[in-house]
Amino acid sequence: MIKRRQLLQFAGATTAMTLPGFSLSLSRRPDYDYVLTAETTPLNIVPGGATPGLAFNGQFPAPVIRAKQGKPLRIHFINKLSQETTIHWHGIRLDNAMDGVPYLTQAPIKPGETFDYEFTCPDAGTFWYHPHMHSIEQLGKGLVGALIVEEADPPAFDDEVIVGLKDWRLKKDGNFMPLSEPRHAARAGTLGNIATVSGTRLPTFSVPANANVRVRILNMDNSRQFAISLGENKATVLALDAMPLPPQPLSVQALGVGMRLDIGVRTPAEAGVEIPIYDVKGRFHQKICSLRTTSPIRRSSPPPLPALPSNPVSEPDLTAAETLRFVFEWAGAMTPVSKSGHVHHEFWTINRRAWAGMHTADLPEPLAELSLGKSYIFELFNATPHGHPIHLHGLIFKVIKSDRRDITPFFTDTILLEKNERAQIAFVADNPGKWMYHCHVIEHMKTGLMGYITIS
Ligand code: C2O
Ligand code: CU
Ligand code: CU
Repeated sequence: MIKRRQLLQFAGATTAMTLPGFSLSLSRRPDYDYVLTAETTPLNIVPGGATPGLAFNGQFPAPVIRAKQGKPLRIHFINKLSQETTIHWHGIRLDNAMDGVPYLTQAPIKPGETFDYEFTCPDAGTFWYHPHMHSIEQLGKGLVGALIVEEADPPAFDDEVIVGLKDWRLKKDGNFMPLSEPRHAARAGTLGNIATVSGTRLPTFSVPANANVRVRILNMDNSRQFAISLGENKATVLALDAMPLPPQPLSVQALGVGMRLDIGVRTPAEAGVEIPIYDVKGRFHQKICSLRTTSPIRRSSPPPLPALPSNPVSEPDLTAAETLRFVFEWAGAMTPVSKSGHVHHEFWTINRRAWAGMHTADLPEPLAELSLGKSYIFELFNATPHGHPIHLHGLIFKVIKSDRRDITPFFTDTILLEKNERAQIAFVADNPGKWMYHCHVIEHMKTGLMGYITIS
């Protein structure tokens, strides 16, 4: 059982707590500036074993970074790793120079060097941050963290829980097994064998009874796709990838790598009630963590769940939009390419091109060059027998069509394409720069399913 005090450490300060008669704001920081390091840290993931992890500020879970919508966020980053890195702020529509992509938007941050990230978050919601270099290793060994952008006008939840999903590939003694195996990289991705939720195996989070609780679920794993359900218990879907949705009951929500789901739970009036959260595989419900009620908030019943205010994303003009087509393919067992002694597997392509690894400054051509301010429709075709969470940096797009399901158009930064699915996304190209466009299964991206677009 995670006690309140520990939960605060995991989750950072909660935003606002409404108690009967008054409202108490718990903000531990006068501003939202952070000093962030990436460093080698022994982690205690398996009992009795020390895992040679990589961690932000020497902690796993990483510090939760909290920003305020529309306000600048300043992060002083120090690279204490023995290899180069950059930090990317996933889902934030920021200045291109702050996007944290090596060679494309900044020079790699060398060991011992620092970089100041400074940007404003126009959208509120659940985001995350991670390196964009040596990603299989740096993310796989622990460098993933939650970035919460609080609404300019925060909705009144009684409590909040951060469910950070990340699996590990560990031997019994805590050391890492190989984080990638080519035969899995060429398929669904190499899965971990030890599952953690906010750094703990199968944790239970204390939440008040008789309360409205916001649960922020983040898939920060390298490879694993989740299907989130609360089983018999009721929950309301509030947002996907930080973008509010019309409130709807949660049944099972697919959550690809990199994706986030915000749900609202109205807890029962009694203390000691367990509300499990599951990953659904066919008919099997695997528990990943639980909420457990503590003493109730004194009132007759919680008010209706607050709705989240929408984010200021521009509506694409579908009648004027230009359509561009992208085909995601499996390149099969192509011979590994050897570049200066490194072996690069190229298993996947976008429009018949693979970009495996970002090891040098010599960038390939962009996949598309867009005009600033224009609307675009991207038609995506997944010509592979695997699902791919396709992510676009620096923009929020609207999913408008799929040949696999009925779509009520919604905004997002990642679309989970099923095998053989054709879908359409649309957006206004309103953020200038060079923006990565890739599958978020880290090994897929590292073996070809990666490119970028330009907007100017
Ligand atoms: Cu989480 Cu290139 O992104
Ligand atoms: Cu991103
Ligand atoms: Cu993929």
